[in-house]
Amino acid sequence: MSSSLLRAGDIPFYLRKISEISRQIKSQLTTTLCRREGVTLHSARSTAGGHALRAVIRNKKEEIEKGEQEIHTKTQTEFDVNLYTKKTFLELLISLSGGAKGYSNIELREEVMTIIIAGTDTSAVALGFTLMLLAKYPDVQERVHKELYDVFGTSYRPLVKEDLPKLQYLERVIKESLRLFPPVPFIIRKILEEIELPSGRILPAGCGVAISIWGVHRDPAHWGPDAEHFDPDRFSPERFLLEHPCSYMPFSSGPRNCLGYRYAMMSLKTVLATLLRRCRVLGEPERGPVPHIDVKIDIMMKATNGYKISIAKRQ
Ligand code: HEM
Repeated sequence: MSSSLLRAGDIPFYLRKISEISRQIKSQLTTTLCRREGVTLHSARSTAGGHALRAVIRNKKEEIEKGEQEIHTKTQTEFDVNLYTKKTFLELLISLSGGAKGYSNIELREEVMTIIIAGTDTSAVALGFTLMLLAKYPDVQERVHKELYDVFGTSYRPLVKEDLPKLQYLERVIKESLRLFPPVPFIIRKILEEIELPSGRILPAGCGVAISIWGVHRDPAHWGPDAEHFDPDRFSPERFLLEHPCSYMPFSSGPRNCLGYRYAMMSLKTVLATLLRRCRVLGEPERGPVPHIDVKIDIMMKATNGYKISIAKRQ
């Protein structure tokens, strides 16, 4: 690969830009939610993507056009899985969309920005909240550790994908963390045709609605009177019985739900298992079942004061 997506020196700039976009989107959302949702996201992403990605995309396209890399069209490559593993996301987008005749530079930038923002910060935030919850509830952490001990014993062998389905309790912890602290706390939809809600309220065609994932996840009507409690066992097969599929939707729901949810769950399990096998996460234990973490909402929900924990090696 002759050019990487971002150089190391671009990263602080890039992270600053991402927070800038989040702030921009939040303020625009609160003022122009119903009128300009498409324009808002498009222009904000273009601003940040512009600087760091424009040159990379131009170079990559030129490189491909010069014949340094073979261009494969969709029909030539769709059954050749090995080829996918040797290409970056950007290279695949260029070649599968038809090379020089495919996506424009702006379209490429939009797609790359979407996958970077949707696929990195979300998982990092989920990891931060889960680690804080484990620090607040040492008994839950010990149960996770016991499960890890049952699967790995004292061995230092690396985790393999066959281990993941065995980590059932860890999965419940992650799901409960995503319920109480969903990194994407709301989604926005445009109403295409008039809908009457069960309450009798009418949503007129053409308006925009913000759907609060945070709200449904903490609604006692769906989760019972202890909806605010941190209780991973509510996801055990015996207890998990939701009447409405949308009462739990950290990855959204329907045709535009998260593209990477399986990958996100696998990567969260892998990181947490790798860390918790050898280390203990420490913090101030919570006094009751309701975890108190101050949050702020941009396009993503984050802990207001960061994720302060300590990590100690297990003996
Ligand atoms: C814990 C981690 C994650 C959470 C909580 C999360 C959550 C979400 C949510 C709620 C949406 C829907 C947004 C909407 O309906 O407007 C979404 C969309 C999306 N996510 Fe994730 N996500 C996570 C990880 C990932 C990962 C790892 C990837 C990629 C590898 C990814 C790629 C995407 C993409 C491409 C979309 C847009 C799908 C579309 O518009 O059709 N996400 N995500």
